[in-house]
Amino acid sequence: MKSIIISNVIQKIAPQFIGQSHLKVIEFNKDKFTVELEKEHLDILILAHDLTFTNANDLFLSVKNNLQDVTILWFANKANTDIPSKDFYQINIYNKYVQLDAFTETNNNINALYAEVFEATISELSKEKINDFNKVDINIFREHNYVSSNVYLKLSPSKIIKIINSNELFNQDFIKKFIDKGVKYLYIKKDDYYTFSEFISGTISAKYKTPKTSIIDDIKDELEGVMVLHDLIHNLNIDSPTVKTLNEVIVSNIQTVKKYPHLKIIVDKFTLSNNKNYLYDHSLMLSYITNLMALKMSWATTATLQKLSMASILHDVALDNEKLAQISRLDEINHKDFSWKEINKLKKHPQEGYYLLEQLKDIPPDAATLVLHHHETPDGQGYPKGLDATQIPQICCLFIIAENIVNKLYGLNSKLGDDKVREIVQDFNYRYNRGNFKRPLEGFIKIIEDLK
Ligand SMILES: [Fe+2]
Ligand SMILES: [Fe+2]
Repeated sequence: MKSIIISNVIQKIAPQFIGQSHLKVIEFNKDKFTVELEKEHLDILILAHDLTFTNANDLFLSVKNNLQDVTILWFANKANTDIPSKDFYQINIYNKYVQLDAFTETNNNINALYAEVFEATISELSKEKINDFNKVDINIFREHNYVSSNVYLKLSPSKIIKIINSNELFNQDFIKKFIDKGVKYLYIKKDDYYTFSEFISGTISAKYKTPKTSIIDDIKDELEGVMVLHDLIHNLNIDSPTVKTLNEVIVSNIQTVKKYPHLKIIVDKFTLSNNKNYLYDHSLMLSYITNLMALKMSWATTATLQKLSMASILHDVALDNEKLAQISRLDEINHKDFSWKEINKLKKHPQEGYYLLEQLKDIPPDAATLVLHHHETPDGQGYPKGLDATQIPQICCLFIIAENIVNKLYGLNSKLGDDKVREIVQDFNYRYNRGNFKRPLEGFIKIIEDLK
């Protein structure tokens, strides 16, 4: 367990903390604070300072945005009495706020207060079993009425309770009740996770073997496949249930796009689909559109379609926040909306996805490269490498244009009309009519006509 004390009154409040091996003391300084926290893994954050109200408020917001899993012990003076009225206890019910009249050397209560709060927190943390669990997107449970393992709900960073027994029937109202309360994940014990993943990928397999009569059913099952895949990769990385599901999603996806090779149909059906989650939706839509462009440009060998589909489905797998997935360029980030952890994740996700695909055996060459380059731009202002239009390989240019189309068309009505289509074509021509983007741009113009 690791604690950090951030303080500008440490000498006064508790000089005995200095030098203790499990504690690290940082003198309060706003910039340093963030930098230090970035490097550390910590369980408890102890704040002890006599800041003005505004500074304390900023400090709290920064902690709230960056460190939701940490228990905060906050010693504060009277000037900051309204901190607990914010989300202080909501973000972690074990947070403790101790108000002191003044930070004076003579305040003998401080040791006792500290010991009380610290020990209570340690005893709570020692009960913590959360590390023994894997989190699973709650929406996966919407497709089932029983699962092979016990299912748990996290109540706080250190409390988790069982809500469903293995193989016990549950109804969708029960799951929906949690979704309505904002619950995003349910939990499965790590020891049970492999069996659980086999159970889930087995049901996906069975669905893909059932012939469909409408593209809506194909999209629905493929979207479930993409969601399950992202979850399997987060929890299992590349293991046989992951590879099996990945191959099945890709086969189904390529068949669907060959059956319905029209942008209009694809855009239309995604607009109608419910349970919207940009992360999964845009990955699958990207798979259709990259395949469609390849088909229209006569680039459609089996290997090319497979790598485009695989890269599309997994290109943002290192992200688990759909808002982050909507940001194409780093200069679009509104720093107020995201924590440094999230921004870091965004910056690294192309490489992380690349390393993940590299681990897959027997995949078409370049699939991992497509993921690595998917945020590069023709003007060299993209990331992670800042390559320009002559350095980005042609197939990656196709992928980049396609993701931009997805971004533009997601959630729109499929019938755009002449003017809107002309406007999009003009914009794409301006951006992409150079270097290795030129050929894929022709493919884009062929498919966009469908939306007039
Ligand atoms: Fe991305
Ligand atoms: Fe993306």
